[in-house]
Amino acid sequence: MNIPTVDLTDLSSKDPARVERGAAAIREAFGVFGLVYVKNHGVDAQALERFYDAFRTFVSWPAEAKRPYGRADIWYQRGWTPPNTEVAVAGNGQPDFKECYFAAPYPSDESSALEFPQIYPENVWPPDAPPFFQEGLLSLGRSLHEAGLGLLRGAAVALGLPETSFADLCQRGPHVTRALQYLPLTSSQVNTGIVWGEEHTDFNLLTLLPGGRFLDPQEQPARSPDDKSGLYLRTRPTPEDPKGRMVRGTAPAGCIVAQVGQQLEILTGGTFLATPHVITAPGVPGWQRQSAAHFMHVHTNTVLFPLSKFRTPDAVRNYAPPVLAGTYDIKTLVDIGLAPSSALDQLGYRHYDRLNQMRAGGTKS
Ligand SMILES: [Fe+2]
Repeated sequence: MNIPTVDLTDLSSKDPARVERGAAAIREAFGVFGLVYVKNHGVDAQALERFYDAFRTFVSWPAEAKRPYGRADIWYQRGWTPPNTEVAVAGNGQPDFKECYFAAPYPSDESSALEFPQIYPENVWPPDAPPFFQEGLLSLGRSLHEAGLGLLRGAAVALGLPETSFADLCQRGPHVTRALQYLPLTSSQVNTGIVWGEEHTDFNLLTLLPGGRFLDPQEQPARSPDDKSGLYLRTRPTPEDPKGRMVRGTAPAGCIVAQVGQQLEILTGGTFLATPHVITAPGVPGWQRQSAAHFMHVHTNTVLFPLSKFRTPDAVRNYAPPVLAGTYDIKTLVDIGLAPSSALDQLGYRHYDRLNQMRAGGTKS
């Protein structure tokens, strides 16, 4: 099971043979595995370490100090996600053992924020944040985003689409960068089937993962304590393996990982596949893991439906009905426990009260 590696400098080259080499790697990687390794990605490894140090300091603050940045009113889309908040849809309700911090690396545009206020809120920062916390997360997000745009151009070429097809849909989208810290298990929790991140597929277009690091029980960066923990992905089912196969998703040294999300699967009618993935915990207590992810989204006003090239009867059946990406975002955020279910009641026409008032003679119009 060889997950291909794509060289971003191939995709940006003027040489058609190099572009095709990169596109071919993406075609196989996204089509078979839903994931590609990326080299020459432009992410600064030293800055990433510095950021993880800053994030570790923030996580170590007492819960009361972090609480003002855990914002249920904006569905936790900026700032701190407390532990035991988010759940995976397939996880039987088991909350993930993690705390996270979300920031948008680019300013939101005002008209989109008016339409979807909780999806495009302003960033939230503690005034006394550890040095390099804000700058580190924002610059990481921007470099991952640039790498992602290169990959999306390659993905479009790989499918015979105009080069900017996916990148155009991303313009002014609700892209968000997240720092994650997976929390230590106690000795009675290890080896009981508890995972750090329950199996799921990402609901956005493309996710970029710059690679993480373990913290030992003294909270010092260290190599993995065993070979049990880390990112595993499930491959596409085959007649021999109807459940697919669980494959380790550890990138080769110096590479980052890019994963297909549900939006890219829908737009390509399943030609590219959203990767089911799970973050397993180590078999020893007291260890943590830090990681980061940048989630690229199509703009909230994009209709999620297979592009015409992929609109076969099967694809239409599988991905119907067409749905606005912003609505899809809200539905998913409810499903994973970040938005209240009342958010769904507020979709579309909601002026029944006004009609009742009018019928009762309470309004003039
Ligand atoms: Fe994920």
